[in-house]
Amino acid sequence: TAPAAVIVAIDGPAGTGKSSTSKAVAAKLGLGYLDTGAQYRAITWWMLTNGIDVKDATAVADAAAKPVIVSGTDPAAPTITVDGLDAAGPIRTQEVTAAVSAVSAVPEVRTLITDLQRSIAAEAPNGIVVEGRDIGITVLPDADLKVFLTASPEARAARRSGELKGKEAADLAATREALVKRDAADSGRKTSPLAKADDAVEVDTTELTLDQVIECVVTLIEGAGAEK
Ligand code: DC
Repeated sequence: TAPAAVIVAIDGPAGTGKSSTSKAVAAKLGLGYLDTGAQYRAITWWMLTNGIDVKDATAVADAAAKPVIVSGTDPAAPTITVDGLDAAGPIRTQEVTAAVSAVSAVPEVRTLITDLQRSIAAEAPNGIVVEGRDIGITVLPDADLKVFLTASPEARAARRSGELKGKEAADLAATREALVKRDAADSGRKTSPLAKADDAVEVDTTELTLDQVIECVVTLIEGAGAEK
């Protein structure tokens, strides 16, 4: 079993199975779950719906503190609202996905969202699994366990286009291209880029099933708990 109030950081690029893994692990061990990408998507959605030019970093910085973003951390039913509105659907559109790297690169946005993430983690009664890009290095450098998930671009694109069923389904090549472009932006930005912490355990999920990845992370958490 997991130790009391264990803090787990799960980072990695898009399409590595971070969300599915984090949610399942949190549910299994009775921990909270926080999708930090959803928070960056939520602030991006607010910028877009309020007519802020997301390419204008000054305009984004000036507006960053306006939206009130609230995340529900139950892994069985995670929620996200912006100014009281349910944002779970709108934050997954291609418009938001295409704009989120620009918004999340703005330092004022990162400071605000990072503070929010730290307070959510500190208040999680049984501990929490926090997934994102910079959790292990910047947000929760003292996490009990840090995991960095990777997978080949082909595997990541295949998983992502499997998720984008229906009208938003893009072809595999376009999905791969958009994903690689977003990773390059997220890894190349100045403030808190996507990177593996020195003390993170890297798990390459290319050849693994979701159940295998979940099992692997659960085992790592139990090991981290034993050391505590
Ligand atoms: O995990 P996701 O694809 O929903 O994340 C959306 C974007 O949010 C991602 O392209 C970069 C940004 N992000 C970030 O900068 N830092 C995080 N901790 C999480 C996400």
